[in-house]
Amino acid sequence: MPWRQKMMSFLLLLLLSLLSEAQSRAASKPNFVLIMADDLGIGDPGCYGNKTLRTPNIDRLARGGVKLTQHLAASPLCTPSRAAFMTGRYPVRSGMASKSRVGVFLFSASSGGLPNNEVTFATLLKKEGYATALIGKWHLGTHCHNNTDFCHHPSSHGFDYFHGLPVTNLRDCKAGEGSVFGSGIRLLVFVPLQVLALALLTLCALRGLGLLQVPVALLVCLALLGAGLLGALACFLHWFRPLNCFLMRGRDVSQQPLSYDNLTQRLTEDAVQFVRRNADTPFLLVFSCIQVHTALFASRDFAGKSRHGAYGDAAEEMDWGVGQILNVLEELGLTNNTLVYFTSDQGAHVEEVTTKGERHGGSNGIYKGGKGNNWEGGIRVPGLLRWPGVLQAGLEVAEPTSNMDLFPTLLSLAGAALPEDRIIDGRDLMPLLQGQSQRSDHEFLFHYCNFYLNAVRWHPRNSTSIWKAFFFTPNFSPEGANGCFPTHVCFCHGNFVTRHHPPLLFDLSRDPRERSPVTPSTEPRFWDIVATMQDAADRHAHTVQEVPNQLSLRNLLWKPWLQMCCASSSGLSCQCPREQPDRGRSP
Ligand SMILES: *[C@@H]1O[C@H](CO)[C@@H](O)[C@H](O)[C@H]1NC(C)=O
Ligand SMILES: *[C@@H]1O[C@H](CO)[C@@H](O)[C@H](O)[C@H]1NC(C)=O
Ligand SMILES: *[C@@H]1O[C@H](CO)[C@@H](O)[C@H](O)[C@H]1NC(C)=O
Ligand SMILES: *[C@@H]1O[C@H](CO)[C@@H](O)[C@H](O)[C@H]1NC(C)=O
Ligand SMILES: *[C@@H]1O[C@H](CO)[C@@H](O)[C@H](O)[C@H]1NC(C)=O
Repeated sequence: MPWRQKMMSFLLLLLLSLLSEAQSRAASKPNFVLIMADDLGIGDPGCYGNKTLRTPNIDRLARGGVKLTQHLAASPLCTPSRAAFMTGRYPVRSGMASKSRVGVFLFSASSGGLPNNEVTFATLLKKEGYATALIGKWHLGTHCHNNTDFCHHPSSHGFDYFHGLPVTNLRDCKAGEGSVFGSGIRLLVFVPLQVLALALLTLCALRGLGLLQVPVALLVCLALLGAGLLGALACFLHWFRPLNCFLMRGRDVSQQPLSYDNLTQRLTEDAVQFVRRNADTPFLLVFSCIQVHTALFASRDFAGKSRHGAYGDAAEEMDWGVGQILNVLEELGLTNNTLVYFTSDQGAHVEEVTTKGERHGGSNGIYKGGKGNNWEGGIRVPGLLRWPGVLQAGLEVAEPTSNMDLFPTLLSLAGAALPEDRIIDGRDLMPLLQGQSQRSDHEFLFHYCNFYLNAVRWHPRNSTSIWKAFFFTPNFSPEGANGCFPTHVCFCHGNFVTRHHPPLLFDLSRDPRERSPVTPSTEPRFWDIVATMQDAADRHAHTVQEVPNQLSLRNLLWKPWLQMCCASSSGLSCQCPREQPDRGRSP
């Protein structure tokens, strides 16, 4: 062949090989199924040691994939933990960490939420051509200024499809299940009402006896105030469910108030349909389970079937949902091209006990504390990752990892670049998961209780120790309890905590139950260790910028003009009992 022809055929071959490489790279983009349970404890799944709660499908993931045994939620509370998961950043960086007692959104019509200048993995994966869906609970806000801006809604954060709860499942959402606002209502309404009634009676008596000239206007005022308070309470109780407990599909309210009938089935079926619709494109499915947060619920097939009451029923039904999703992946031949992740947003809620004394919270296994505090029980959560052929089945990783790590891991697998204009706190998990690295990239991790830096974890590069230094610890109540029962959840500041100077130090590698603090007399290097950790905390604090507080009182309050009401309801009743069908716009 003349050289010119040779050259041409060589170039042609080169071009073809480049093309096919690009093609196979596009085709090999893995799908992502991220399953996040709500308030499930690390002591609940069978694969983490539970022998009586049946979770065969979660266990199936563990058998076929990697089990993380020191997987940490970035926060022990829903809203901040989920904000961190979505953005790969500590929640203080996005303003999703409260300075007050209330650390999560309670009303659908509040103005706080995940800010628009934050970038979620969904937004970045969508840019890479992924079909994206969030099915289940969001809890990261809806509106900012009016009830049509959807500034915090999943659709503004990269999700093409959303079906589920914009806020969260709460006891108050289910008639007859009691109230999480119980103590608040008592303080805000019942106590003032009693004071008012007493004052009114006393004044009336004094007036009647002719002992005091009490103007009638004052008596009328007091009576009106009392009636106003009672009226407000009645309105709150009457309207709470429709106004805060509803389902959305996309940007439409689809059921108001939500019905618990077959709810897990309905959402699971929707997730399965999403997978079917998108079998030919790379997809991201975040299946954000509504269970096992209270109010607990289970369909006929699961109610009364477990050995752990209503909690066990709900957990076993959630496991069934996980199984349905694994099954459809199998059926469509997608298993080997899909990374499946399973976790919980935080530890089990220890204080979740009904007025009848029934335990409605899960198990944190051997670990102390639970949801709402940074003892291991609050943040050490299940962490399973399965990807046959890529991740070694049955591998166990005991190194510290975080739910923030999914962000860089997913982006790297999808071939997307990490944002360069901000700090990403998560680390790519693949080297650990594939056994290429034996050490976590997290030398230090910072444990926040809402806005406040609660503890530092240090895994020194040259040692097996896992040091954890608490700057403060919650005051458990009653004395000797494993949680803060009078307040339903532990608070993070003021008289609710005990500060520690020097910090309270544990070595989790020897004392995972956090029973015996290390002291200068038991650990000769105590002061060096504490100084190193304090230094890391100071350096970290310097990287945290002041940002608008999304959980300020103003942003938490119910704002009538942000309230959503289903389109087909009559007048202001906000009642649409039948779930509106998908209007065929789903991607
Ligand atoms: C709602 O707010 C958005 C953004 O602030 C604005 O563009 C829109 O016009 C507002 N809609 C109404 C109905 O006021
Ligand atoms: C729930 O699902 C079961 C079986 O799938 C069905 O028989 C029942 O009617 C459903 N209940 C409601 C309220 O839809
Ligand atoms: C299994 O889970 C149930 C429900 O949370 C709990 O009551 C039980 O103590 C757990 N068992 C173990 C061994 O942790
Ligand atoms: C999926 O991967 C596993 C593990 O590498 C392999 O045994 C199996 O044959 C693969 N299945 C398909 C359908 O390729
Ligand atoms: C680990 O390294 C630090 C300095 O980086 C040193 O002070 C410490 O003594 C080392 N510890 C061990 C167990 O070798």
